Amino acid sequence: MLLLIIGNWMAAVDAHSQDAELLLGRSIYHKGTDASGSLIRAQLALTGQVFPATEFACVNCHGVDGEAGQEGEVSIPAINAPQLLARNSASSVLKVITQGLNNRQQAISPAMPRYTLSRAQGQALLRYLSILGSAEDLDPGVTDSEVHFATLLPLTGKLSARGQALQSTLATCIARVNRQGLIYGRKLVLDVIDYQSSPEQLVAASKRLLLAGRSFALLSGDVPEDNVKFYTFWEQTRTPVIAPLTFNPQPHAADSFFYFLPSWADQARALLDYWLDYRPQARRTLPKLIVVYDERINTTKLVTSALAQQIQRQHLPKSTISFISLAAKLGAGEQQELTNAEAIFFVAEADAIKTFIAQQPELSEKIWLGLLDMLGPNFAKLSRNSLWISPFLENHVGEQDVACAAVDFAVAGLKVAGKHLRQAHFLKALTQLESFAVKSMPAFKFDANQRVGARGGFISIWDATTLTFRQVNDWIMPLETEIKR
Ligand code: HEC
Repeated sequence: MLLLIIGNWMAAVDAHSQDAELLLGRSIYHKGTDASGSLIRAQLALTGQVFPATEFACVNCHGVDGEAGQEGEVSIPAINAPQLLARNSASSVLKVITQGLNNRQQAISPAMPRYTLSRAQGQALLRYLSILGSAEDLDPGVTDSEVHFATLLPLTGKLSARGQALQSTLATCIARVNRQGLIYGRKLVLDVIDYQSSPEQLVAASKRLLLAGRSFALLSGDVPEDNVKFYTFWEQTRTPVIAPLTFNPQPHAADSFFYFLPSWADQARALLDYWLDYRPQARRTLPKLIVVYDERINTTKLVTSALAQQIQRQHLPKSTISFISLAAKLGAGEQQELTNAEAIFFVAEADAIKTFIAQQPELSEKIWLGLLDMLGPNFAKLSRNSLWISPFLENHVGEQDVACAAVDFAVAGLKVAGKHLRQAHFLKALTQLESFAVKSMPAFKFDANQRVGARGGFISIWDATTLTFRQVNDWIMPLETEIKR
């Protein structure tokens, strides 16, 4: 069943969803934050140091079910529902948490930090402790018979065609998975949320989604280029985010993020490597490359610095590469550089570069390099001799494969995470999947330092004589070596 919910999310909250207080309490226990942005502090009893509670979430010591345990020398008492509130009154439990005093007013072990909680946070946490580890204690989106994923798509507005295509692809893939059988008795349900092609709506829709508390993880979905707010929001909720469709993954992303597509920067590096091998005058003269970029776009800065570093990895002099900003007025020096360059790497959107090319007719004699999904095939066709990179075999067709791969990846994680389904176990399971294959891309695996699955892409040549794009290789990855500083 594909449930389509547009507009008022809260109206759609059904019996499966949990009330706001319980969600708040659960979030404090498992994540150390109530996701409202109001910081909870944890003070270490021995040193008095204060940290954000996100670094000392209760779950770290007390486990997902509040079961008793042993951490080295320290024994952790069981605090799950039947245990804790049978032994203590609600107010004495709060006192342990906030002041570290037990019901005989003695200080408990300094191994447990002291937390500052507002009244509402304290109530919510108590409420959650009253069901911790019981059958009622299910993660958001999980019931005995279903697990709900959510996807954010532009179903209306200027990107609606793309959004709707992805929606039907995802529906097909989910239906296929459900036909293969239940996973620990649960079927997959995908809730599709329309963000109306607007980046502001994307964050607003994310907030409503989280508040509704009925999504176990985010799956695929279309994320606009400038997605820092989207990232920051979901990062602090620690909700698993699987294969959001973007070429602009957050650098050093948290371990709740699983990006599949290669970043623009990693595509650009692979293309640069390819060009260096491809040059007919290879090994005779030093290469000379000019990067023309749009400094107004944050992403292009990541790409230009990645290119500069790749030149170092290739042990070429820094002067191999120079940069021209589209915003700058070209002086005699830049004009000379353009004349001397063998190739031009365009890092900007097509519209931004058109005037630049029109003013520099000699550019058509050079080899053009570019990111096909950034500039588009129509732009590429303005060139005579050019090399392009894309992770997709044909422009954008592969995106559908990536969306379905996100579903398969989630299923693989669910199978490992087990019947007692928890976001924390699921995240761990996804990170432990040994290698995962997406159609036409190299298999990948995630770890603490690797949050983006694929690097590089396929190179195509635009041939102005035959008027065709010709894919010239299997997937290539950029050269990776340590850079000496
Ligand atoms: C760094 C590890 C750690 C973290 C984080 C932690 N605790 Fe504890 N907690 C302990 C230890 C150890 C004890 C046992 C102290 C003792 O008995 O002297 C304890 C005791 C307790 C007790 C008293 C249990 C009883 O039987 O009297 C409660 C309640 C409790 N923790 C709740 C929480 C909550 C809620 C959080 C998060 C807001 C939390 N703890 C975070 C380690 C931790």
